Amino acid sequence: MSRVNRVDHIAYAVASGMIEKWAWYHIAIEGGKLTKRVDDVRPDDEDSSMKLWCIDFESFGIVLVEGIDRKKISQVSAFAEAHGDHSVQHIAFDTVNLEDFVTHAISNGVNLRGQQLVSNDGFGDLKQLFGKGYAKQNAALMSFPEYVERPKGGEGMSTSVPQNTGKNFYQRIEDARNSGDTSTLIDFSRMPRDWDPLKSQPTETQPNDAPNHTLEAEPA
Ligand SMILES: [Fe+2]
Repeated sequence: MSRVNRVDHIAYAVASGMIEKWAWYHIAIEGGKLTKRVDDVRPDDEDSSMKLWCIDFESFGIVLVEGIDRKKISQVSAFAEAHGDHSVQHIAFDTVNLEDFVTHAISNGVNLRGQQLVSNDGFGDLKQLFGKGYAKQNAALMSFPEYVERPKGGEGMSTSVPQNTGKNFYQRIEDARNSGDTSTLIDFSRMPRDWDPLKSQPTETQPNDAPNHTLEAEPA
């Protein structure tokens, strides 16, 4: 069974002065709906901040972030400068059970950036956890995954994990950036040397339900 079941949202880092233009594109052209607009998420931070707008497409969301530079260049400005305007900073994947997924991931050597957070983003309540960057670069410049869990069936968000005792995610990236921490999401030395994608297919699938790509991969 898949441990992540859909894309929850995609976060794009946009260039300075571009958030309104990209919001217009996603809303007027693509038909999204603006559900959250924060024009300064860190008004008391004299170093840097960002704008954050959330656009809902019902089955997934788009998040636009634009850096606000003060004493320092915002991590979001640095990302957009390095990768281009409207570049994918992170993709968030919905999980069936976030705690179960995280236990499984950590036991396989996945490196997460801090503890789970519980909050309400532009798309509703959620539990969320961020992975470290995919590539070994400055933390501000690395693309990374986010894993979330949304309340199901009208229930509230419940969790057994102590919440929001740590720093918010922007600050975690700043700390990694300042300390030169370039550690990555996954150490591939943990990958079994004899790993075979065909042998790792789910075993609970009934023969008649086997997806075509599995059948096509069998020797003729
Ligand atoms: Fe996100």
